[in-house]
Amino acid sequence: MSTLDAERALLEDVHLQRFSVTYDYPVWFTRDLFDPGNPILLDAVARQEPERRHRAVVFLDEGVANQLPDLARRIERYAQAHSQQLELAGPVHLVDGGEAAKNDYDIILNLLRRLQSLAIDRQSFVIAVGGGAVLDMAGFTATICHRGVRHIRVPTTVLSQNDSGVGVKNGVNAFGQKNYLGTFAPPFAVINDSAFIDVLPGRDKRAGMAEAVKVALIRDRSFFEWLEAEAEALARFDVRALDILIRRCALLHMRQIAHGGDPFERGSARPLDYGHWSAHKLETLSGHELRHGEAVALGIVLDARYSVLCGLLEPGQEERVWQLLRRLGFRLWHETLEKRVSDGSRAVMAGLRDFREHLGGDLTITLLEEIGVGVEVHKMEEDLVLKSIAWLRQHEAQG
Ligand SMILES: NC(=O)c1ccc[n+]([C@@H]2O[C@H](COP(=O)([O-])OP(=O)(O)OC[C@H]3O[C@@H](n4cnc5c(N)ncnc54)[C@H](O)[C@@H]3O)[C@@H](O)[C@H]2O)c1
Ligand SMILES: [Zn+2]
Repeated sequence: MSTLDAERALLEDVHLQRFSVTYDYPVWFTRDLFDPGNPILLDAVARQEPERRHRAVVFLDEGVANQLPDLARRIERYAQAHSQQLELAGPVHLVDGGEAAKNDYDIILNLLRRLQSLAIDRQSFVIAVGGGAVLDMAGFTATICHRGVRHIRVPTTVLSQNDSGVGVKNGVNAFGQKNYLGTFAPPFAVINDSAFIDVLPGRDKRAGMAEAVKVALIRDRSFFEWLEAEAEALARFDVRALDILIRRCALLHMRQIAHGGDPFERGSARPLDYGHWSAHKLETLSGHELRHGEAVALGIVLDARYSVLCGLLEPGQEERVWQLLRRLGFRLWHETLEKRVSDGSRAVMAGLRDFREHLGGDLTITLLEEIGVGVEVHKMEEDLVLKSIAWLRQHEAQG
């Protein structure tokens, strides 16, 4: 380039900045992660710098600790047994489990203070062991600390192993809205340990299956048919069937994130959030009495009926969805569906506004064209939503 050209280039009014960053993280499936003979956690922390000794802090979901009272000690013993490679910066730290973890900023501030007092830096690790709520909160905390401390997720529920834990989102609730604060920040690694599922209460095992029905409905008809075939085994929490469900569902979520073209959801579509516009609202309206997965089951069947009423889905297919969810043991009615706000309108309808505002741009809702095929629409008719709710109520009454 001549001096003149260089000078001209320098004087351009606009210079486009462009770079890309590749993300990769392993998702392991294992059993007894904290058995000293299991090398996976060491492999995870050493993934980029095998020679170093790595510092980590462990945040443990209290609900898991209650089920497994010796777990904190086992984690500490694991680190002692591998002290050449792994150092725990402090004792295992217990955090409230369930949605409470996402509803109280003091928890985040306490964790941040703890990270600071332990001199956790960006090369260190936050290892979060727990359900989706604890992982969302701990991941958020890690990603705002020093603008991003590496985090490793050890999901302990069906839902977090097959959906939330393998994804790229972290967040907490604020101002009455789910996930109002949050970050898109991929984990450093994810380790699914099937032993945690053994001690998970049936209610939570079931709740996590809703996300599998969801992703099957929009992406994979053969998975839906498999769920129908295995419904009885799944309803009694058969270990093999549940393990297959978790793996298939996790891989479908991973595929969508990697190959769906919008991993950080910059557009207005939320392809994996079928059934979620109402689910998020119902969770909040129920004061989190409804688990996320239970609300998703309601949202799924509501939008399946809506898909029929608006002419997208063949009549009868919504019955199939209803039947499957019932056979899995879901209750497909909740009083909050009929809750009204002061102007007399249905409270759940505000879920559409929240959904749109979360992303901006056009409202984009995924509905069903067929079982296994989702389709995006940009409008939902209130009277058809109300008819879908009435249909749900009628079905509930008929049992
Ligand atoms: N980040 C995402 O992409 C994403 C996706 C879907 C859902 N989520 C979020 O995940 C959360 C729901 O997660 P969840 O369904 O895992 O429930 P949860 O985290 O609320 O856990 C439910 C209960 O089970 C306990 N628990 C966890 N593991 C246990 C175990 N192995 N044994 C016994 N008890 C155990 C917890 O302490 C809690 O009391 C919601 O906040 C939802 O918004 C996030
Ligand atoms: Zn969900």
